[in-house]
Amino acid sequence: MSFGVIYFAIMPTTDLGLDKTLSALGIAEAEQVSARFADVRTHFENQFQRVHDESEWKTFRDGWLGRKSGVLTLITDNWLKPATQELKRAVGQELNKLRAHVESQIEARRIAIESGAEESALLREHIDLSLPGVHRPIGSHHLIRQVFQEIEDIFVSIGFSVVEGPEIETPYYNFEALNIPEFHPVRDDMDTFYLELPKGAATPLLLRTHTSPMQIRTMEKQKPPVRVIVPGKVYRRDNPDATHSFAFHQIEGLAVDTDITFCDFTGTIEYFVKQFFGPSVKTRFRPSYFPFTEPSVEFDVSCPFCGGTGTASAGGTCSKCKGAAWIELFGAGMVDPAVYGFVNYDPKKVSGFAFGIGIDRLAMLKYGIDDIQVFFQNDVRFLRQFP
Ligand code: FA5
Repeated sequence: MSFGVIYFAIMPTTDLGLDKTLSALGIAEAEQVSARFADVRTHFENQFQRVHDESEWKTFRDGWLGRKSGVLTLITDNWLKPATQELKRAVGQELNKLRAHVESQIEARRIAIESGAEESALLREHIDLSLPGVHRPIGSHHLIRQVFQEIEDIFVSIGFSVVEGPEIETPYYNFEALNIPEFHPVRDDMDTFYLELPKGAATPLLLRTHTSPMQIRTMEKQKPPVRVIVPGKVYRRDNPDATHSFAFHQIEGLAVDTDITFCDFTGTIEYFVKQFFGPSVKTRFRPSYFPFTEPSVEFDVSCPFCGGTGTASAGGTCSKCKGAAWIELFGAGMVDPAVYGFVNYDPKKVSGFAFGIGIDRLAMLKYGIDDIQVFFQNDVRFLRQFP
């Protein structure tokens, strides 16, 4: 009979005679039985003192309580079961006492080990509040986002709401519904990126060249009065230079109602510009052309850098307006009646104005930035200047 690997690992030197019957051990009296069990118990206590951690405890428990070859099983099989009638009672009583002792001690040690482990884990995780914290730098909004916010706040304060639209558009919304049919020369200035689609796709898809498609989408959804601004990203097949990028930002504005006049239009735009650049800037309109506004204008402000003089404060020509005293800001106009036809508005009943502001150039102007590319390079030395 084998004691099993675990048992020997715990009790390598002692042979308690557990593999023999009591009669083979020469035990015939009850007193001898008690003495034997006393040996076993002493042995238990000796081993027990060496159990300090979870893995020692498991080995120890299996060595004593293991079903197949634990000490108590061996005593049951080899001492109790084959015991003579005279000894059986004594062996049974001793075994019960031993079992109760062994089980309660092993359980008590388990609890002690577990709580000790918890204590040492707590010690390990102890937080030292006197140590310096981990510094996590807080980022800030990109300057373009900040300018969007400034402009949104101004328009929201006079009753406009903010809506957003898709950057991937159909030619219908980007061009046709804005009165720009195929082969119209304006499309040359607004060449863009087209998506590769599976053959037989219902319509080509492109990256929008301006935020104006949202004029159409808004009017399709909503009856007048309409007062919205549309911030967003737009794309063109333009070669990058100091004032051009192939991806840039615009804010569209649209106001349509039954009685909107050119005066409402100029008043709104002037209010915005004075809020944005300060009350001292002067404004002017110049005639322009957009297929979706009639009349169309370009809107200029007096150069905020030279105070509209064309001369730099240190003398010489102002480098920002190149001596012109005016800086072109954005395109705008009264909504062309033809556009209303695409959205089922009655051009005899409604009128309105629209504008499209290039945000990147506006930000460059306000913050004295001379290259549009810095907005996209994400150099933190630049970004940190606008916390
Ligand atoms: C338009 O995009 C019209 N949708 C604006 C409009 C809206 C007119 C509503 C009338 C009514 P334009 O192509 O001029 O217009 O572009 C508007 C602004 O976008 C320009 O003034 C300029 O600030 C900016 N912009 C145009 N191309 C680029 C570019 N490649 N990089 C950076 N900014 C650009």
